Amino acid sequence: MSPPNISPLWTSEEIERATLGRASAPFTVTGLAIDSRKLQPGELYVAIKGENKDGHEFTANAFENKAGAALVSKSVEGGPTITVAHTQRALEDLARAARARSAAKIIGVTGSAGKTTTKEILKLAFEALGQTYASGASFNNHWGVPFSLANFPREAAFGVFEIGMNHFGEIRNLVSFVRPHIALVTTIAPAHLEFFGNCEAIADAKSEIFEGLMPGGFALLPVDSPYCERLRARAKQIGVTNILTFGSAQCADARLISVEEAASGIRLKAEIQGKAIDAVVGAPGAHIASNTLGALLAVSVAGGDAEMAAATLADFAPLKGRGARIKAGNIEIIDESYNANPASMVAALALLSKAPGRKVAVLGDMLELGPQSPDLHAGLAAHLAAADRVFLAGSNMKSLADVLSGASYAANSAELAPLVTEAVRDGDTVLVKGSNGSRMTVVIDALKSRFGG
Ligand SMILES: Nc1ncnc2c1ncn2[C@@H]1O[C@H](COP(=O)(O)OP(=O)(O)OP(=O)(O)O)[C@@H](O)[C@H]1O
Ligand SMILES: [Mg+2]
Repeated sequence: MSPPNISPLWTSEEIERATLGRASAPFTVTGLAIDSRKLQPGELYVAIKGENKDGHEFTANAFENKAGAALVSKSVEGGPTITVAHTQRALEDLARAARARSAAKIIGVTGSAGKTTTKEILKLAFEALGQTYASGASFNNHWGVPFSLANFPREAAFGVFEIGMNHFGEIRNLVSFVRPHIALVTTIAPAHLEFFGNCEAIADAKSEIFEGLMPGGFALLPVDSPYCERLRARAKQIGVTNILTFGSAQCADARLISVEEAASGIRLKAEIQGKAIDAVVGAPGAHIASNTLGALLAVSVAGGDAEMAAATLADFAPLKGRGARIKAGNIEIIDESYNANPASMVAALALLSKAPGRKVAVLGDMLELGPQSPDLHAGLAAHLAAADRVFLAGSNMKSLADVLSGASYAANSAELAPLVTEAVRDGDTVLVKGSNGSRMTVVIDALKSRFGG
C-alpha cells in the first residue's frame, strides 16, 4: 500500500533512529507492507510474528516482489535489511516517529459500526482541502493502527485513522499512537457484547479515544445515540472542553435538516456549525447521513470549508460488503456480508424497505452478542415488516426464525443458498447480511452464478 509520496517515506537512517535497529546498507522505501504478496516494489517488508505464521518465512517472497528492504529480528538473505529487537515494537516505533514528524491535522474514528465507512467519507471530504491519508481497509487493531501510521506520508495535510477494540484498554493504547486533534465516535451499539455485557461499558471503552486527544482537541459525538450523554460525561472527566455533536436533534452542532433519496444515494440538507449545506452523497441510508454529518463537522472544526468538502461526496460509493450494490442479471443484491450487529442490521433493513421490486432479506448470525443474543436476534422481527421473503441461516438466527412465521431457515449459509436462489425472481432486491463469520458471501456467490454478474 504505497501512498503517493513526494519524498521517500523512510530512509534507513530514519528507521535506525526510530527503532534503534541496524541497517545492512543505506536504503529508502516508499511504503510498508506486512503481507509479502501485497507488497509493491520499493516498499519495506515488515516481518511480523502472528498467531499462526512468522512473517520471517516470507522475506524471500518479499524480495522476489522487489521489496526495498526488510525489517526483521533474525538474519535473512536476499536484500537490504534492518535488524531490530522486535518487529511489532519496531512498527510501533515507526508509528510514533511518523506521528511526531507530521504537521498534519489528525482525525481518529471509533464506534461500534460505521468506522470504515466514515473514514472513507472523511478521506473524500478532506481531500477537497489538502493531501489526505487514511488508514487502509479496516486496519484498526494492535498492528493495523501502527501500520497505518508508519505509512503516513510526511507531507500529508490531513490524516484519518480508524481505531477499533474489543476489550477495555485497547483504544487507550492505540490512540496514544494516533494522538488525534479530532476524535469522532460514529455510534454506540451492542457489538462485542459477549465481552462487555452492556452498552454503557461499550461507550466507556470507546471513550478511551478522548484520552489521546491533543490539547484543545475536539470530541465529536452522535447526538441521537442513547449513550451520547455518557460519552459526553466521559469526555468531560478526561478534561476535553470542545465537545460537539452531530445528528438530527435540534441542538446538534451538525444538524440534519432533511434527507431524501437521490440517484443511488441521498441528498441531505444540513446545518454545520451554522452553515447551510446541501449535499448529494453516493450511498443510501440514514446511517450514511449520520456518518456524513460527523465527517462534515470534523471538516468544519478543522477550519475547512464544509460546503466544499460536501461537494466531493457524490463520488462516495458504498463499500464492498457494506452496502455495495451488485447487479446480477435482473436482480439487485445489497452486499452487507462483511459484518452485522443490531444497529447495522436495522440500518440495512431500513434500506431494504425502500428498495424497488420484491424485497428479500437473507440474514446470517450476528456474532459475539453474549447472553442477550437470542433476544437481539428475535428483536429483528419488528424491522422485517416490509420484507416480502425472509431467509435465515445459523444457530443464532434460529431465535428469529422461531418468532417469524413464513421465514425459511437453514443451519448455515451453504444450506440456505439453494433455497434463496430457487425463490428469487427477476426484479427482486436481495439484502444479504450477517457477521463475516456467518459466511453469507456464499449466498451472494450462488445468486451471481444463478443470475449472472
Ligand atoms: N452510523 C452507523 N450506524 C449504524 N450502522 C452503520 C453506521 N455506519 C455504517 N453502518 C453499517 O455498519 C456496517 C459496517 O460498516 P463499517 O465497515 O463502516 O463499520 P466498522 O465500524 O468499520 O466495522 P469493523 O469493526 O468491522 O471495522 C455497514 O454495512 C453498515 O450497514
Ligand atoms: Mg472497519
